[in-house]
Amino acid sequence: MAIQWFPGHMAKARREVGEKIKFVDLVFELVDARLPLSSRNPMLDQIVQHKPRIILLNKADLADEGQTKKWINYFESLGYPALACNAKEANTTKAILAKAKHTLQEKRARDRERGIQPRAIRAMVLGIPNVGKSTIMNRLVGKKIAQTGNKPGVTKGQQWLRVGNELELLDTPGILWPKFEDQEIGKKLALTGAIKDQLLHLDDIALYGLEFFATFYPGRISQRYGLSSTDEQLTAPDLLMDLTKKMGFREDYERASERLLLEIRQGKLGRFTLDRVEDLESESNHETVH
Ligand code: G4P
Repeated sequence: MAIQWFPGHMAKARREVGEKIKFVDLVFELVDARLPLSSRNPMLDQIVQHKPRIILLNKADLADEGQTKKWINYFESLGYPALACNAKEANTTKAILAKAKHTLQEKRARDRERGIQPRAIRAMVLGIPNVGKSTIMNRLVGKKIAQTGNKPGVTKGQQWLRVGNELELLDTPGILWPKFEDQEIGKKLALTGAIKDQLLHLDDIALYGLEFFATFYPGRISQRYGLSSTDEQLTAPDLLMDLTKKMGFREDYERASERLLLEIRQGKLGRFTLDRVEDLESESNHETVH
């Protein structure tokens, strides 16, 4: 479910997350592994400040494994512990717990030296809509938690959900807005389904996706849709025309675009990563990650 973010909502979400952060020892920043930069909130550094933070590259099952490894190295080289995960998989809990303990181990050792007996780690999950916050919380807690309706502004008393004996999670995730001011980022978010299709033209997103696959994963489109020419020989509009015919939709490009997007999001064209580590040098994106 996508939220329409207005300045008032953003200010409120920022205020609420800022309040909650005071209560936690650790923040789990959830991003979509297919968009490790574009699915981050633009003001996250200011909001989280110096709280220890682990970047969880969720939906790693849908992302390009080689790129995920590079992104993890990249984040870790900047001093952020990072972990690839799949919220739908059972062993994710163990991996997250181990990472959390490892991240806080020095602080906890210092506390112990000062005679402070460590209690369970208190943490919260934070991220833009649709990155898998509810799914990962359900996974960690081992049951279905109350739905927050994915709306910022739902406040109630602080409640902690236990994840074994060593971790406690704040019962509601922090929901922040994506970076939609940039056209390219908007298209990437739309292609993965992170923002509503109505915000952009379907065929624009489809053309963007076709261009992306033809460039970075050549052969996948022609193979999936049985096209006679290879992806690299055709422009994105030609690819869209050809696959519309192959799908039996004649000239209904809207319908073909809808089908194509659904299949891309479901991973039917294979695993992919839209944000490429290699592009960092030429983009100003990295300025948001200090
Ligand atoms: P949110 O709270 O951050 O808004 O996200 P939410 O957990 O609602 O997850 C958004 C969608 O992403 C859901 O799909 C969910 O199943 C899917 N998802 C979450 N984590 C993962 C993951 O690690 N891998 C994959 N492949 N999918 C993931 P949906 O289609 O909206 O719902 P559903 O039909 O799966 O229930």
